[in-house]
Amino acid sequence: MRSRFQAPLRATPPPPPGVRPFRAGDVPALGPVMWDAYRGTPDEADVGDPGGAAREIRLALDGEYGTFLPAASFVAEDRGRPVGAALVTLYRGLPLLAFLFTAPSHSGNGLGQGLVRAAMHALAEQGHDTLTLAVTRRNRRARRLYEHLGFVEVA
Ligand SMILES: CC(C)(COP(=O)(O)OP(=O)(O)OC[C@H]1O[C@@H](n2cnc3c(N)ncnc32)[C@H](O)[C@@H]1OP(=O)(O)O)[C@@H](O)C(=O)NCCC(=O)NCCS
Repeated sequence: MRSRFQAPLRATPPPPPGVRPFRAGDVPALGPVMWDAYRGTPDEADVGDPGGAAREIRLALDGEYGTFLPAASFVAEDRGRPVGAALVTLYRGLPLLAFLFTAPSHSGNGLGQGLVRAAMHALAEQGHDTLTLAVTRRNRRARRLYEHLGFVEVA
């Protein structure tokens, strides 16, 4: 079961250090990070295996979840290596946070929040007023993070 969350985009602070805009060259490094992040969570089955993670990232970039918005997508880096990402698309006219993940080695340090804030900041600057996402009911960690950022459940 998934809930749909939505947040209004007000003036949001710019990305914290360690979070930078997505680059196409990040794709090969992000697959293993995504798999590492989802393994052992309620959403593991949606990703399946390391190849599944790489495939999901490709699908997001190729338009399966709406038009990919590279200028609203961000990567968290540690010593030059990607350790997390927020990938945003435009789905049925509204920005959608298609994927958010942080490597377990780097979780709990605010990177997840920083990535979403960076996307919210960029989208607001680009004239959007809402960010939407879908989250599994049982994914309490992610739900709490979104609630702290002002998201409310709308369906
Ligand atoms: C959900 C997920 C993205 C969170 O990433 P994260 O980088 O650990 O997120 P944050 O560090 O920003 O926040 C997580 C917790 O750390 C806390 N935190 C934030 N900044 C912190 C800091 N500087 N020091 C210590 N803790 C901090 C947050 O308050 C939050 O705790 P809370 O949930 O009790 O409020 C990550 O666990 C993940 O990749 N999960 C698997 C994929 C997934 O479920 N994605 C979402 C699908 S909708």
